[in-house]
Amino acid sequence: MKKTIILKVSSENLELEKISLAAKIIRQGGLVAFPTETVYGLGADALNPRAVREIYAAKNRPLDNPIIVHVANKEDVYRLAEDVPEFAEKLMESFWPGPLTLVLKASSIVPRVTTGGLDTVAIRMPSHKVALALIREAETPIAAPSANLAGRPSPTMAEHVIQDLYGRIDVILDAGPTNIGVESTVLDLTHDPPQILRPGGTTYEELKRILGRVSIHPAALARREIHIEHARSPGMKHKHYAPKAKVVLVEGKFNAVINKIRELAQQYIREGKKVGILATDESLSEYDVGIVKSLGSRRDLASTAKNLFKLFREFDEDEVDIIIAEGIPQKELGLAVMNRLRRAAGYNIIKAD
Ligand code: TXA
Ligand code: MG
Repeated sequence: MKKTIILKVSSENLELEKISLAAKIIRQGGLVAFPTETVYGLGADALNPRAVREIYAAKNRPLDNPIIVHVANKEDVYRLAEDVPEFAEKLMESFWPGPLTLVLKASSIVPRVTTGGLDTVAIRMPSHKVALALIREAETPIAAPSANLAGRPSPTMAEHVIQDLYGRIDVILDAGPTNIGVESTVLDLTHDPPQILRPGGTTYEELKRILGRVSIHPAALARREIHIEHARSPGMKHKHYAPKAKVVLVEGKFNAVINKIRELAQQYIREGKKVGILATDESLSEYDVGIVKSLGSRRDLASTAKNLFKLFREFDEDEVDIIIAEGIPQKELGLAVMNRLRRAAGYNIIKAD
């Protein structure tokens, strides 16, 4: 068991001595969990293969699932990647710092363990001030997957990191809840047209406005499990985002969804199960059995992204056997939320009509 140091930090008042301590641990090959605007990351020196291997071990992450490299300046992109196309510039200009990860051809300085054996590297510049300060102070790009145990929901609060990784890592920088709540969008620029491998904090609509042409990997939209060629989208084949409870997702017209969920809840309760319902603000009052929580408003899909992973963990604490979730509109941040819900449900999706 490692001794894990928890340091409270804030974006408003950057206490550089705490950040410097964490940065020093990164430089020495240690593991530091830190806040980003999306979810908490588990960072190590991206160019130190031994340190990156520790990330996989701490998370129980399969070694073929590559890790995003976080940078604090654009120049690093040209050190880490080769063949950076002109439209990559445009994307960095428009969306960085922010929740967009670009997949590019890797340069020879990037260790293979960082890219999970691929010849591409995923790079992003986070906008959280603590993350940027940590990368700058460490003076090296930071490899960081989400700071959860593999398969568990991503952490949106330091408490979640503590639940999963306390005693397994060196430092946790606690800056309170993250702002976006789902991970960054992973965009493959080696594909023509650029392809979204994972929908996330930067929306399809925003990318389309800048790029004109952008595709979405079929697995990112799938309602069923589909066979995935490992070479391009390794993260998709791993089980993900799952609370301990079984998840059932109900999709369809709003009223039909509500009726179906009411019916299913009754049925599960008759079977003796403890039921959680993941509703929305607009439907909250429609349910009179089970533990009911609202994901957020259908009129503000960003609110649903913010709450999703936290509610998964809350339902685990409530020890529900089953979570019945309402589908939400698959646009803007709703696309990322639906992608996480479908995967959490293991594609156990019921169509209500
Ligand atoms: O918002 C985020 O992206 C957070 C914060 C910490 O930055 N990070 C994060 O990392 O979500 P992780 O490891 O949980 O998810 C990274 C995703 C995985 O699906 C992985 O397969 C994919 O990015 N990925 C990484 N490198 C890739 C590459 N070279 N080609 C294709 N996909 C890649
Ligand atoms: Mg993750």
